[in-house]
Amino acid sequence: MTAASAPVLVAVLPAAQLPPVGQVLAVEATWEGHALPLVILRWFGRQVRGYVNLCPHMAVPLSRTGARFLDRERRHLVCTTHGALFRPEDGRCVSGPCAGDHLDALEVVEFFGQLQVFLPGALADSLRGRRALVTALGPRSPALDDRGPVDPDERKPG
Ligand code: FES
Repeated sequence: MTAASAPVLVAVLPAAQLPPVGQVLAVEATWEGHALPLVILRWFGRQVRGYVNLCPHMAVPLSRTGARFLDRERRHLVCTTHGALFRPEDGRCVSGPCAGDHLDALEVVEFFGQLQVFLPGALADSLRGRRALVTALGPRSPALDDRGPVDPDERKPG
């Protein structure tokens, strides 16, 4: 049996950048030279959750345009490709073609006004095994790091 790799710090963000409950922050981190899209949100109880922004159904970003990450009731994360719904608190898919599967969860630590986002070791190992998938996302786009919070209400649904 092989031990999992250590967690990898993939992003450090000002906690103030995180929008209130009901909105999602989409950022692009860099991991081992590849773009790694992330979604981070604050949920009820002030918990911060983070996921790799790839739908488990077809390994595409939940929102191809960055326009919408939550359903209209703001109760679930939504994949705009085929409409899968995911619970924000644990990333589990509760409806859609990947029901029962889950988003890849990150470890997010809020520490002295910063959000430290870690790729868990087991997830890093899993993504290395899916390297072609990560590479398919293309090279890192530096401009995305400066993108502000994504407010679904300011954009048209995807
Ligand atoms: S790609 Fe997300 S539901 Fe099909």
